[in-house]
Amino acid sequence: QQHELQIAIDGPAGAGKSTIAKIVAQRLNLFYVDTGAMYRAIAYKVLKNGIPLEDELGVNELVKTTEVVLDHSKEQTVWCDGENITQAIRNPEISRAVSIVAAYSGVRKRLVELQRLEAARGGVVMDGRDIGTHVLPEADVKIYLTASPEERSRRRWIELKNSGKDISLAEVHQDMQKRDRQDTEREVSPLEPAPDAVILDTTGLSVEVIVEKILALA
Ligand code: CDP
Ligand code: CDP
Repeated sequence: QQHELQIAIDGPAGAGKSTIAKIVAQRLNLFYVDTGAMYRAIAYKVLKNGIPLEDELGVNELVKTTEVVLDHSKEQTVWCDGENITQAIRNPEISRAVSIVAAYSGVRKRLVELQRLEAARGGVVMDGRDIGTHVLPEADVKIYLTASPEERSRRRWIELKNSGKDISLAEVHQDMQKRDRQDTEREVSPLEPAPDAVILDTTGLSVEVIVEKILALA
């Protein structure tokens, strides 16, 4: 069965997935699907509704009535039940909550359905944690992007500072280490390279160099 080009990009936080996926999608004229934004949207809704993060049944129930929409125009707007949450989901508070709700099977089942629907619309570059291993196992190109923990934390810290968030590098580093641990140790679709993924370590490398490598593979 034929399908349009699918590029799966997985890896830990701050590896450069979304930056690179966006550019690759533009160059190849594919949709860009940020699956992390979907999990962040659920974390946002859970916190907003005052549901305890540990309440798995409550969270799984909430997901069923939550509408998450990714707008694929250049601005990449994220909508949750009609609210524009593009900026709000980049908050450190959401980053701390998201890996807890992302471990719940009800949450993953629903979001994976949505992600596969997105891929059915046409060629995609999709980034996340389980795209090559679970969401799009038939993807044409699978990339596992990584970088040293220090560099990943520093990248995210600079981003947060530039958007006016007052947070220390040590705190960002600690949050990120914890989230990576939660993502790799969870039971359902943990973060791990697909057996057929190309592993790219981006430590000390520019965005452009990585983009060119992926375009060459595609
Ligand atoms: O951009 P960053 O790497 O900080 O994270 P993200 O891609 O926005 O993903 C946020 C969180 O969502 C991750 O830490 C995972 O807990 C979860 N996630 C997931 O479980 N599966 C995916 N396919 C994408 C994200
Ligand atoms: O999506 P993910 O969490 O994997 O990473 P990102 O949000 O795309 O990248 C985090 C930051 O690192 C961004 O500000 C990128 O511009 C920067 N970056 C970099 O400096 N060098 C790279 N090779 C890749 C990303």
